[in-house]
Amino acid sequence: MPNLTIAIDGPAGSGKSSVARLVAQMLGYLYLDSGAMYRALALKALHKDISLEEESRLVDLARKTHIELRPPSPEQERAGAKNSVFLDGLEVTLAIRTSDVAEAASRLATIGPVREVLVAEQQRAGAGGRVVMEGRDIGTVVFPDAELKLFLEAAPEVRAERRWKEHREKGEQLTLAEVLEEVRERDRRDRERKVSPLVRAQDAVLIDNTAMNIEETARLVIMLAQQRDDELAKLKGTG
Ligand code: CDP
Ligand code: CDP
Repeated sequence: MPNLTIAIDGPAGSGKSSVARLVAQMLGYLYLDSGAMYRALALKALHKDISLEEESRLVDLARKTHIELRPPSPEQERAGAKNSVFLDGLEVTLAIRTSDVAEAASRLATIGPVREVLVAEQQRAGAGGRVVMEGRDIGTVVFPDAELKLFLEAAPEVRAERRWKEHREKGEQLTLAEVLEEVRERDRRDRERKVSPLVRAQDAVLIDNTAMNIEETARLVIMLAQQRDDELAKLKGTG
């Protein structure tokens, strides 16, 4: 069984959480959704009516906030949740999945000192290895030495449609055009921000899964993980 840290990055709806969760299950690894931490903090800021322009209050809020990711219950899993998310001890697994929270998270994620607090948490959570962590900066900033890095991509229209279907299943009345606009705007902000922008690490394998399902993508990742593990074993043997 490979013993790796696997970093998965990519834009919204590229399949990061579904693929990461399945890969983690297949390998018996821990799965960590870093985006859930940005979403949870954004939810708290919205509840407290803190403006997303007030950087120093948001940094202070980040420092005083405790976010915990746990494996989902079978019921949560059936509802599509991949991690169970606790914000200061309160469960917010479903509450963080609205498009308002996604938008607020991506604005909050442009603030460098807020990222520093969350990145430190993510590094602590994944320090034990045998982990699949996904987000925007995992291979570039959080775990730059991860043994396997993947960058997932898919056509924006396909990513928006995937997200739209999720909203529709939850009974949310958003049009496909609205979701496409939201996804494009969030991608633009994530790619153009000054701190830790969404970018493929030089040593990340690019997987375009526009025409692939979750299982196919996960099987490809498992194959790459096994290859990487073999390479590392050979290096150890000769080194
Ligand atoms: O985490 P990220 O935003 O990158 O994507 P996701 O939440 O894993 O996937 C968004 C939606 O697309 C989910 O409903 C997945 O089931 C679906 N999906 C898909 O249909 N085919 C894929 N290859 C990947 C994801
Ligand atoms: O699931 P989806 O891909 O739509 O988004 P997410 O992974 O839940 O992340 C929500 C927002 O948090 C993203 O749009 C990013 O702005 C931010 N984020 C980040 O900046 N760095 C990460 N490692 C993860 C998320």
